[in-house]
Amino acid sequence: MSDKTFYVTTPIYYVNARPHIGHAYTTIVADVLARRHRLLGDDTFFLTGTDEHGQKIERSAAAAGIPPQQFADQVSKSFEDLWKRMGITNNDYIRTTSEKHKRGVQKLFSTLYERGFIYLASYTGSYCVSDEAFVDAPVGTPCPDCGRILEEVTEENFFFKLSEFQQPIIELIESGKLSITPESRRNEVLSFVRGGLKDLSISRSSFTWGIPVPEPAANLAAQKHVIYVWLDALANYMTALGYGSDDEALFQKFWPADLHLVGKEIIRFHCVYWPAFLLAAGLPLPKAVTAHGWLLFEDSKMSKSKGNIVRTETILDAFGDEVYGKQFPESAKHERDLFASDVLRYFLLREIPFGQDGSFSFDALITRYNADLANGYGNLVSRTLKLVETGLDGTFSDVHNMGFVVGIGATVDESVTAGRYSWTLGVDPGTGGPDPLWDASPSLEQAVDFYLESRSFSQAIELIAQAIKQVDGFLSESEPWKIAKDREAIARGRLNAVLYTAAESIRIITALLYPILPFATAKVWAQLGLGDIEVAARGGELKNLEWGGLKPGTQLGPLGPIFPRADKGLAQIMSDMENPTPVDTNPTDPAAAPPTTAPDAAPRTTTLDPVPVLPVGGSTALTTGPSDIVSHTHAKASGIFANESPAPVTTENGELTSPQITIDDFAKVELRVAQILVAERIPKADKLLRLEVDLGPDFPKRQILSGIAEWYEPDELIGRRIVVITNLAPRKMRGLESHGMLLAASHGENGKPVLATFGEDIALGSRLK
Ligand code: ME8
Ligand code: MG
Repeated sequence: MSDKTFYVTTPIYYVNARPHIGHAYTTIVADVLARRHRLLGDDTFFLTGTDEHGQKIERSAAAAGIPPQQFADQVSKSFEDLWKRMGITNNDYIRTTSEKHKRGVQKLFSTLYERGFIYLASYTGSYCVSDEAFVDAPVGTPCPDCGRILEEVTEENFFFKLSEFQQPIIELIESGKLSITPESRRNEVLSFVRGGLKDLSISRSSFTWGIPVPEPAANLAAQKHVIYVWLDALANYMTALGYGSDDEALFQKFWPADLHLVGKEIIRFHCVYWPAFLLAAGLPLPKAVTAHGWLLFEDSKMSKSKGNIVRTETILDAFGDEVYGKQFPESAKHERDLFASDVLRYFLLREIPFGQDGSFSFDALITRYNADLANGYGNLVSRTLKLVETGLDGTFSDVHNMGFVVGIGATVDESVTAGRYSWTLGVDPGTGGPDPLWDASPSLEQAVDFYLESRSFSQAIELIAQAIKQVDGFLSESEPWKIAKDREAIARGRLNAVLYTAAESIRIITALLYPILPFATAKVWAQLGLGDIEVAARGGELKNLEWGGLKPGTQLGPLGPIFPRADKGLAQIMSDMENPTPVDTNPTDPAAAPPTTAPDAAPRTTTLDPVPVLPVGGSTALTTGPSDIVSHTHAKASGIFANESPAPVTTENGELTSPQITIDDFAKVELRVAQILVAERIPKADKLLRLEVDLGPDFPKRQILSGIAEWYEPDELIGRRIVVITNLAPRKMRGLESHGMLLAASHGENGKPVLATFGEDIALGSRLK
């Protein structure tokens, strides 16, 4: 092992909702880097975890109807379980509700206080709960960062003297002591800092879900304060190593971090606030922060609050069971998960130029998998090793006098090489022109090394994919299957030479792919007869890729498929897993037609019964789709969101009617039976009621705000079975989140809402369709 250490972190993820592939992306990148540094011999520490305090979590827990700690426990576990399923090699999993973390954060706060960087003052201003950030924009307007409505906060707060750090931070960044990549993010941070830094509020007193401000600072304040969630969260990078505990050995060893990996939206917290806190505390600063772009799905940032997410579990289950499981019916779930995890790793790293936004689609995932892994790498391995088994009894006699010009090693066999496959690293993949770095014609290994080091994952993989194509081309031209039929001694020697060349190239390619495809490369490594790739990684065998590492006499391991082909239909399976809909919309299946469709009506088209159904409360002004459908109604909308219902259409004869929608449109709206558990008025909001509803054992309880307070007494609602639209994007009103909408008909002159209900007994959670 070298005496170098390497410490890499991911953001700690909020526990307000379950993970999606955006979180997996960052975690995968960190895992690739950690595995690479371990194989280089660096003493490596890789940290991930969850961010569990703050107003956002407190409210999500309230909406779910459970205490915040219990809520955090559940969601944090779902992240941790996922990383286990994916074979992520984090060395620790930090939770901000752990005692160790709390102590460390209080120590950091006390240090800042003792050194004179914290004072108490009163603050009135705008706060964005979603971003957990004080924002310099008027209350009631959308947050400039995320678009959610800003709330007013008036509080006595502890302030951190951020304003004193403008110049030091500019110097840090300009001198390169704090590296920020990509360049565009560095510029963004610099211009933010140059614009001036105001002191930062670092405590909150209007809620309690956080780490208490410690004494003696706490004694100054009239109220109880908790530490601002970002100060709490950022400190995780040190508390996980034992900062502030009785055992700071890891902290001494690994701090400062070599790299904080983050998504681009939290760069300010990591490149301005965090360095300022550390400077003020007299602690060493992280060496680098790298921000990646966003995964987009259906054209916008994949996000928990928008609901346009893809869960990693979907990909693990679909690829694991449908692709790997079909090929290997006896395989364990864990093995399937690791296989599918490799598929996702490869796709995200290959497809998205690191630092930029990238769109995710199931089709692209399958296409890339089949092209590069099933047909590319997997096929090369299978065809080569099968020939070694049948033509050479599974072993090579010697390795002299052969080689192959892929820049990997020496070349001798004139007839197969003659420079035709010469390595093309002299070309800059971005510009197509010569790459100034490569005038010395590097080996494949050096080039991949360079790109991984600069976190250009897609370029590194692209080069490896080129190498795979070259070896493939080499095999096609040298036709070893023909040579194999010739029993002459010279031909035996030539067969050995050709196949050795391919197999040794595969060994090198496999070693290079290991950090990206840890499961698949382990299988290939074993098939090559080289044993356990993890042992090889630890032993430094994946580091020095000299030509000739595959020794003569090495017997191949048992062979088998590595990447079974994926069927195109898998895309539909995954998309169904993401959007479960019990409505079968297959137009050729008459049984699937809804009863309201006239037999001669165009397939997939139906009219909604013109019953005046009115959504009440929980408006969907920020969403598209579902609200348009249920609110096409004859009734005048009532309640506080009346103006947000689309107007009915007037027909030629002057009647009001609704535009037609398809059954698919209707199927987008998820209506379910719920029971009202809690109903209460909201102070200063005379039209709104806050409800908590039970959707049965399969769904969490949820909070819904509804504009029916003028018509219903809270008490008369409790226990009622009603209909709720459950797939509306959440909406914030009066500082509370509404997760859904009730169905009601509008009755009489003034449009009194009458809640839709059932005459028969019906199970909670049942879907209306
Ligand atoms: O911000 N594309 O937590 P968070 C790519 N707790 N990456 C994405 C993504 C997407 N669509 N969505 C999320 C927080 N991520 C704070 C961090 S750190 C001291 C505190 C990834 O749950 C990406 O890494 O909102 C992003 O920065 C992070 O998840 C945000 O996770
Ligand atoms: Mg976020």
